[in-house]
Amino acid sequence: MNFTADRLLLFGATGDLSQRMLLPSLCALDADGLLGPHVRIIGTARSEFSDGEFRNFARAALEKFLPADRRGSMASFLNRLSYQKLDATTLDGFDDLAVKVGKPEHGLAIFLSTAPSLFEPTIAGLQHAGLATGNVRIGLEKPLGTDLASSREINDAVASAFSESRIYRIDHYLGKETVQNLLALRFANILFEPLWNAAHIDHVQITVAETVGLEGRVAFYDDAGAIRDMVQNHMLQLLALVAMEPPGSFDATSVRDEKVKVLRSLREVEIGETVTGQYRAGAISGKAVPGYDEELEKASNTETFVAIKAHVDNWRWKGVPFYLRTGKRLPERVTEIVVQFRRVPHSIFAGPKSKGGGAKMIPNRLVIGIQPKENISLSLMAKVPGLDRDGIRLRSVPLDIAMPDAFTGTHNRIAYERLLLDLIEGDQTLFVRRDEVEAQWEWIDGIRALWAEQGLEPKTYTAGSWGPSAAIALAERDGVTWHE
Ligand code: BG6
Repeated sequence: MNFTADRLLLFGATGDLSQRMLLPSLCALDADGLLGPHVRIIGTARSEFSDGEFRNFARAALEKFLPADRRGSMASFLNRLSYQKLDATTLDGFDDLAVKVGKPEHGLAIFLSTAPSLFEPTIAGLQHAGLATGNVRIGLEKPLGTDLASSREINDAVASAFSESRIYRIDHYLGKETVQNLLALRFANILFEPLWNAAHIDHVQITVAETVGLEGRVAFYDDAGAIRDMVQNHMLQLLALVAMEPPGSFDATSVRDEKVKVLRSLREVEIGETVTGQYRAGAISGKAVPGYDEELEKASNTETFVAIKAHVDNWRWKGVPFYLRTGKRLPERVTEIVVQFRRVPHSIFAGPKSKGGGAKMIPNRLVIGIQPKENISLSLMAKVPGLDRDGIRLRSVPLDIAMPDAFTGTHNRIAYERLLLDLIEGDQTLFVRRDEVEAQWEWIDGIRALWAEQGLEPKTYTAGSWGPSAAIALAERDGVTWHE
């Protein structure tokens, strides 16, 4: 159903995500005049807060996490906020919550950012209080389960109250401008698509490197590990966007139909195609940091790094490996996609008859920087200027586009700004459909089962390094070097 909600109900309103991302995003949208004048935001969580106290809490979060030049009139934003305490594990408080939300004129958008164990009781409470009717849609923040079975359980519970067209599963990577730009790069240019296949691409690398460690999320992270925290969602979404066929149009059904086909074509990973690691004490940017076991204060088998050689088994990608790696406490924060093209089929510059003198050819490479640098760099071979008495010399030179320079005057937006606005206005294109999530879990479960079967333990790596040396070997065995 098409409606722009005039109520937004935030579960987990006092949590970390709310403070760092959701409240700042909503305030920034308000500052830009993108929230309708009647939109009211109701926060709910376990804490005891009056409306005024919640507004003060929100003000503190905005002052901490939203740059001053994006805050607009904070007072008018804070006026939109109200609060209702709720213990979501029982039905008792939901009627009061419904009273607080009031009757939306156009519709209600709910954002659920709570522990997954609260999903089912929350859905039951919403249904009980009449907050799951046709003019209500719901956004679900990850983690959506810990494996295929538990994610199905959550999906079933949500589906019992909301139709799929009213369910918005969030993967905040899809809210990033540079991630959406992948679609523009591929499908708004004639240049790449004819070459975007196994005949012309040697391999793809996707790196999501972080310098942070546990960040206080001890229990959650130790249960999840890098594969469930990052690969199952963000990295597989990036892979799907790189590998998908051109959709018929930029709408929710067409885009998600194509992504799910890729996710379903992922080949089961074999022994030797994954490497896991766990960081030990080291240094990042010259600052000493403790090891994972020290932060956790116990020994653990959880991987803080994973590298995978993945394959998409379809015509387009036959024989093209996708090397994925992600980890905590790596030397720099960088998310990038590297598309390594093949060599030219024949070099006119090689061989004894050639004036090339055997000039070395370096295959073209496209590097798409997602963060922190938002740039696209295409390496091209060019002639080194000169009279070539000893033969022509060639060099690989980059054709660089720095997105912020190309689009000066635009905001650097928080990914959740886009996602919250789409949730309020009802556009599912950048949200993950049930079949996608389940295809993602199926593949991840296969890898985890293999690890369990093999009794695989993460190899240690020093914080500030690029992971265990086995991860380097994983690529180098195929003659591939990770892009750094
Ligand atoms: C989250 C993970 O989904 O993504 C975190 O749970 C991770 O562990 C974060 O740090 C990374 O997001 P971003 O936008 O900083 O790359």
